[in-house]
Amino acid sequence: MYPLIRPLLFALDAETAHDLTLGLLRRAYPLPGVQALMRTCYARRAPKLPLRVMGLDFPNPVGLAAGLDKNARVLHPLMDMGFGWLELGTVTPKPQPGNPKKRMFRLPRQAAIINRMGFNSEGLTVFLANLARQPPRPGIIGINIGKNRDTPAERALDDYLPALRAVYLEADYVAINISSPNTPGLRTLQDEAPLAALLDALKREQGVLAGRHGRYVPLALKIAPDLQDADIDSIARLVLAHQFDAVIATNTTLARPGLETEPQAQEAGGLSGRPLGPLSTRVIRRLYAILQGRVAIIGVGGIESAEDAWEKLLAGADLIQLYTAFIYQGPGLIPRILRGLERKMHESGASTLVEALARARQSPKA
Ligand code: FNR
Repeated sequence: MYPLIRPLLFALDAETAHDLTLGLLRRAYPLPGVQALMRTCYARRAPKLPLRVMGLDFPNPVGLAAGLDKNARVLHPLMDMGFGWLELGTVTPKPQPGNPKKRMFRLPRQAAIINRMGFNSEGLTVFLANLARQPPRPGIIGINIGKNRDTPAERALDDYLPALRAVYLEADYVAINISSPNTPGLRTLQDEAPLAALLDALKREQGVLAGRHGRYVPLALKIAPDLQDADIDSIARLVLAHQFDAVIATNTTLARPGLETEPQAQEAGGLSGRPLGPLSTRVIRRLYAILQGRVAIIGVGGIESAEDAWEKLLAGADLIQLYTAFIYQGPGLIPRILRGLERKMHESGASTLVEALARARQSPKA
């Protein structure tokens, strides 16, 4: 169905198409037969590939990356497309409009997107009210939190700590986003000294909240692809030392690899999709060399096929996420990737994906 709808959507401005699609999904979903149709077309065609990561049981490793459902409006429809889990947000404590429009650009020849949304968010109060309106939870939900634009980076904890407290009981894991390129100064939080302070405070708060509520909610740190090797190593050592539960690698890039002659590529903002793929895989590989499975890695960036997903997993990811290829290929992509991964598993003679990966990582070809 998506190949028929896509030309209509792509005739519209990218953000208009995004808002329209989410609005339609939300309104159509309660109509008779729609849920059953979506499940038949997508979720039921997605093989189960269960795995346990961060102490959570995922039905499959393919998740939706942050930024698509920023305000927690379409959980159930998205889950019925076959995703194993969703990451909602980024949500900021206070509502904020983000950057002026136009701020999202398609680069169809490269299957890429440039965005400079700048954390447009309805804020925590609306986000949590939206979540509360959609019971029961359809599956594993990560909540990605960010800081408001007018909060200086040195005071980032003034935003992250209250946000963590607010979403703690609503999330299966909480992602700390310090890697959007569209909030001035945010990425400086990846530097060693501020990062150590941030991780320390968040980890302490997690301990307090776990004790108070009797429930441990894992923490994941989302990082940028535009890091030197030494920065990646330092981040890996810090998440390990602070016992973070996962690293999400990566957010969008400020680089424009292979896009030198593409006029659209001059737009300011973060690039996602196909050209980001190798950059994010490089970060995953580097992280894994230090983490060695002791902290989970969520691989994201340019995944548009089962082969790409497998490559990220082989590089060291435990789970994967995607966003841009979902826009280009539609929901059929999710069962397609999962069936491809299932094939890999069968070919290797393994009975689980984790076992297939362990074998492949040990083989000389990997
Ligand atoms: C994003 N991404 C993103 N990430 C994040 O942590 N918080 C956010 O609010 C957003 N917003 C956002 C908007 C748009 C329009 C895009 C395209 C992307 C980044 C996203 O989660 C992911 O890390 C990258 O897009 C790389 O994955 P793909 O898109 O190449 O599969």
